[in-house]
Formats: sequence, C-alpha cells, structure tokens
Amino acid sequence: MDPKFIRNFAIIAHIDHGKSTLSDRLLEITGSLTQREMQAQVLDAMDLERERGITIKAHSVRMMYQAKDGNTYQLNLIDTPGHVDFSYEVSRSLASCEGALLVVDASQGVEAQTLANAYLAISNGLEIIPVINKIDLPSADIPRTKEMIENTVGLPADDAIAVSAKTGLNVEAILEAVVHLIPPPEGKADAPLQALIFDSWFDPYKGVIVLARVINGTLRTGQRIRLMSNGRTFDVESMGVLTPKPVEISTLSAGEVGFFVATIKDVADTKVGDTITDPSNPAAEPLPGFEDIKSMVFAGLYTVESHEHGALREALGKLKLNDASFSFEPESSVALGFGFRCGFLGLLHMEIIQERLEREFGLDLITTAPGVRYKIHLTGPRSESNIVEVENPSRWPDPTTIDFIEEPVITAKILTNEEYVGGILKLVEDKRGKQKNFEYVSGSRVMITYELPLNEIVLDFYDRLKSVSRGYASLDYHLSGMWTSPMVKMDILVSGEPVDALSVIVHRDFAYERGKALVHKMKELIPRQMFEVAIQAAIGSKIVARETVSAIKKDVLAKCYGGDISRKRKLLDKQKEGKKRMKRIGKVDIPQEAFLAVLKVG
Ligand code: GTP
Repeated sequence: MDPKFIRNFAIIAHIDHGKSTLSDRLLEITGSLTQREMQAQVLDAMDLERERGITIKAHSVRMMYQAKDGNTYQLNLIDTPGHVDFSYEVSRSLASCEGALLVVDASQGVEAQTLANAYLAISNGLEIIPVINKIDLPSADIPRTKEMIENTVGLPADDAIAVSAKTGLNVEAILEAVVHLIPPPEGKADAPLQALIFDSWFDPYKGVIVLARVINGTLRTGQRIRLMSNGRTFDVESMGVLTPKPVEISTLSAGEVGFFVATIKDVADTKVGDTITDPSNPAAEPLPGFEDIKSMVFAGLYTVESHEHGALREALGKLKLNDASFSFEPESSVALGFGFRCGFLGLLHMEIIQERLEREFGLDLITTAPGVRYKIHLTGPRSESNIVEVENPSRWPDPTTIDFIEEPVITAKILTNEEYVGGILKLVEDKRGKQKNFEYVSGSRVMITYELPLNEIVLDFYDRLKSVSRGYASLDYHLSGMWTSPMVKMDILVSGEPVDALSVIVHRDFAYERGKALVHKMKELIPRQMFEVAIQAAIGSKIVARETVSAIKKDVLAKCYGGDISRKRKLLDKQKEGKKRMKRIGKVDIPQEAFLAVLKVG
C-alpha cells in the first residue's frame, strides 16, 4: 500500500481508563467486526487478562477506514500492555508507530501511568492525540482533565477529543484525527530490509509467530531473514495481518505491520526490539533501542506435594515457550525440597506466572518471599572476579568475606492528592526512600518523585500505598541505579532449626524490627502443635527476636457436644483443607502463608 494512506498508532492509557473498550469501538466503527462477532474486549485474548482486566501481550489489528476526504486508509492499531512491569515492551510497540491516542478518564484525570506512557511516546517522537474518555459519567470533568493534560503531561489539550468509548459518542472523530494528524510512515521501500520485532508468541501448531513493523525494505513469504542480535537465519513460511481475524498476505512493505511464521522453534530467539534483515542484502545497522531485558524480581517456586516436581518443571517449560522474559533454574531447599528459582520482570509478572501455574496446570505451589539481585563485592583486590551477583538468600556469602554490597534502586513517581501526601511520605521514608522532587502539578494534585530500593517495593509497597491513599495514588517506576547498603541475611528458626526457604535479605538497621514483626506474624500463622514451638529470627548466630507457639491443650473435637456429627465433619474438613498447603518441617507443619509472612510485615 502507498505509505501515504497508512497510519500506525497505539492507544496509551492508565489502567482502566478505557483502552480496550475504545479499541473495540474503533473495530466496530471501521466494520472490522460485525455486531455478532463483537465480543467484549476482543483484544484481550487470554482469559486471565480478561478476568484481571489488564492487557498483557501486545497485539496489532489492521482496519480499513474510509475517511471523509474520500480516501481509504489502512489503520494499524498496535495494542500496548499497560503495566510498569512491561514498559520495555510498551516502548517497542510505540517505536512501531507514528502516533498515539493518549486516553484519559474524565472522572479520574491524569495518573502516573498516563504520564509514564506519554513520556515514552514523546521520547519515541510520536504525534500524540489527547482523548478524554468516559464523558457519559456524571463525575466526568472535561475542563479539569484538559487542564491536567496541559499542566501534568505538558501537551496542548484544547483540541482533545471528548468521547464515551462505552456509548460510542464522538468516537468517529478519533478516526478522522488519526488520518489527519498522525503522519504517514517514512521508510524507504527500496532500502535494505529493517523490520522491528515488537511481539512474539508460541503457537503449538505453527511454532513461533512474530509481530513486526517493517521500517525499510520489504518482507516477503519465502524469503530468508536474519535476526541482527543473534545472527540466526530463518525462512519466512507465511505472513498475515489480524483484522482481527488472521488474513494471509504475501508481502509487508515499508510502513506496514503484520505477523509472520518462519521455522522458529524458540521464542527466546525472537527478542522484542530486535531487527530483522535480509542476509543477502543486509542493513548496515540494527534499529535503535534494542535491550536484552533482564529479570528484576526473583522467588523460589515449590510444589506442596514433592511428587509434583516433574509436573512443575514441565509447566514452567511450557510457559517459558511463550514468555522469553521469564527465567527459571532448579534450586533445592532443605525445608521445601526440590524447586525452581524463577526470575520475573516485576511483581505483576510474578503473580501472573504463579496464577497460570496453579490454574492452567493445576499445581499447588509454595512461593518464597520475592527478592532482588544484589551485587556483592568480596574483600580482596578490586576485580570482576571478586564480585558475585546473588538473588538467592541461600547463596549469600559468609559475611566476613563481604567488603560492600550494592542493591538495585528505582525512581518512583507517585501522583496523588495533597490530603494523602503525609501518609505517602511516611511510607516512602519507612521504605528507605530519598526524595528527589515534590511538585504541585495542578490544583491539589501532587507529584512525588523518590528513589527507593527495589527490595522494599517487592515486599508490600503497592498494598501499603493503596491503603494510605485510599486508592488515590498511582505509581510508576523504573530501575535507575544501585546503592551501597549494609544488607544482611536474616534466618528464621523453627524449633531451633533454620528454615532456609524463610531466609530474607534485609537492611541492617531494619533487621531488628523486621525480625520482631516477622516472628510475630509467623506465630499467628503456625497452628498450635502437640508441643511448644519456638520461632526465632537470627542474623548469623545472634538471635534478634523470638516468639513461642504454645502447645495444644485440648482436642478440637472436644469442643463439640454430643453427637453433632455434621459440625464435627465440618471441623475435620476445615482441618484437612488447612493441611493441603502445609509443609512439614522437622516435626512442625508450616502453612504456605508463613513463607510469605515477610510480605505482610514491614
Ligand atoms: P487495561 O486493559 O487494564 O489497561 O484497561 P483498559 O484501559 O483497557 O480499560 P477497559 O477498556 O477495560 O475499561 C475499564 C472499565 O471502564 C470497564 O469497566 C469499561 O466498561 C469502563 N469504560 C470504558 N470506557 C468507558 C466509557 O466511555 N464510559 C463509561 N462509563 N465506562 C467506560
């Protein structure tokens, strides 16, 4: 197609501001979907996404739109994930576009992720069209939302398009704006091939499917391609576009977006952000912006039943086929047996994988407290060989051999109302934060910028932020450096025995308080046994806190009088249910929650 008639755009928004609803409406108006096919939120393909109402994987849809100028345009809508954990994927999706719709909920206004995504779009040089959504709501405030877009995001909002994605009101105006305001793609059709990979997934029948934007040159069925990051070559077997139904095509020319299948067996080969070229006429250099993304959050995954270990390995392998950004390797724990140390992009990513393992593969899991990767400089000469990277407390070196430790640090932007600032500042200070900026962005809205150790965020930061702000705070963060911090390993002993899976890495100055809170929480979680159980927190051989679970005095059934058999059965069932997720350590049954108790204290 003549690039003059192509428009590539994304929709960016804070979670729940209406991105999926608006996408559906655009598909409907362009006739890409008939009413009957119109299933709520077609772009959110996976069940899990639908249930959680979040978009995990980026997709793209081609729509044909006859504009008021009489011309028919090819509009490629590129869907982007909305959560901070996936911001690299968002940035690559945006790099495949010339423009973006910035959707802001008229009743909520600009939120932290509106801002983070808008900045990503601006830094990718995109034309941004502000869209104010949900104007059908009684609480919609269009003038205030415009003011926030201007003051907070720094974009002119006079011409912002006010719509209701739900009712369809004024949505067509968006399509006209896309055609007239977003520039057509600029690539050269006769230059050597450069195509940007912005998503890929594994299909059990077809192998790996790659979504790409051709920047220069042409991609053809039957052609040999080379991936520039790893030099591997493959043959393109078939190509297509989603309308949203897959439709086969034979070429993708400069400026176009589509998917292809090319004898690729492993998604790990098709890295998001990589450049595809033609080995017989290769591009001189790859497209800018490629990063090999690394896991940031780590946790141990174990099965409650040890005989399910093989099933867990198989399930992890299957998930990995579709998600190259997650990693796993075998680890073993004295307490939990054989399991896997898994690496994730962030906490949400971890929750998604955990949930899929339980739901799709029917596994009962025990997860250890999530942690981060530390850079430990050992005593002795300063050299690379004297630095170890440790993400597993069980591999923590002997403290006498440690010179100093560096921990990953994030820059967090929190957007809130002034009435919640007090509570939030206390929270970030408690979490070892350092203030970088504090500004009023519009009216009573405040933007707080802090540097915080990632280790503090992976514990209970989101939940605490939500509760101190009653939900009126939004957070966005990115990794921004390392701090030198005196971290120590704290062990938890149950009946005098260290339970390796409960060890955590904490800041030395917080160890005493954390230890106290942790053993207290454990005391509540560990059921009473026939004997007394001591729970201790220790750093090396020094005990910093202790609690005791006293022994059971009476049989639980003794509480039931006479022959109330149904009540008895209920109690027994309840006990059985409780047992399901217990792990026997020595003589003591420890419930799953205890392994995560560290998350609930802080
Ligand atoms: P993520 O995929 O989580 O980023 O969410 P999203 O931005 O795609 O939001 P989604 O389209 O799922 O909409 C979130 C909620 O807002 C849903 O309950 C929608 O029905 C509702 N919603 C979306 N647009 C409108 C609108 O114009 N008016 C009203 N009243 N509700 C809307």
